[in-house]
Amino acid sequence: GRLMVDLGLPPIIGHRGARGLAPENTLSGLKAAFGQGVRYVEIDAKLTQDGVVILMHDETLDRTTNGSGAVAETPYALIHTLNAAKAFPDLAPEPPPTLVEVLELVQSVGGGINIEIKPCPGRERETAAAVIDVVRATWRQPILPLLSSFQRASLEACRDLAPDLPRGYLSEIEGEDWVAEAKSLGCTTLNLGWKMLTPAQVPGLIASGLPLLLWTVNEPEVARAFLAAGATAIITDRPDIVCA
Ligand code: G3P
Ligand code: MG
Repeated sequence: GRLMVDLGLPPIIGHRGARGLAPENTLSGLKAAFGQGVRYVEIDAKLTQDGVVILMHDETLDRTTNGSGAVAETPYALIHTLNAAKAFPDLAPEPPPTLVEVLELVQSVGGGINIEIKPCPGRERETAAAVIDVVRATWRQPILPLLSSFQRASLEACRDLAPDLPRGYLSEIEGEDWVAEAKSLGCTTLNLGWKMLTPAQVPGLIASGLPLLLWTVNEPEVARAFLAAGATAIITDRPDIVCA
């Protein structure tokens, strides 16, 4: 039989750091999450043109930075000059961080991390491989990062290249057999959009043996209802209110 792996998942996970409180996918955002008592964060990982793994949600730089254009067409040296904190004008500017920097910060507080692999189209396997290289080179704690993706090709690459690293099956497809899809990829967790579900469905899903992570839950009463129904964790922009 398979050994049970301790994923170290607490009930509250910070979304893109703590997106409602601080700039998403930044070092200051992760520090804000940790300052709220969060000990586990979700972030989005993407490749620069020259293959550096950075934190970035979108395919372009436009929304979250003062730059513009496709991340996949921009070298790291240029991205490093940009401000990823523009949504919070009172804060000091800071560049989009590398995954290396983020894993070091998370380990400095003894925290955990869900690395969502968010490849630009066509770079699904390459992004997964680069994320795994960074994890291998940087991560020293016994509880391993959880790798997740909406992209089947990325999850397949993770399974092939790093079968020991836990994988989360991300879906926002209503009516899909999430458990069957996750199991077909050898995934360790189900990471589902909460709006597809009611709390009454939670017991049936966790009966699969897969921990259930729900995103993006920003209302305390919704968080309470899903956690009471047995959800393993909720991923939230607002750990300050959802923790309360
Ligand atoms: O990983 C959970 C959640 O972050 C997935 O959606 O668009 O916020 O990356 P998104
Ligand atoms: Mg994400």
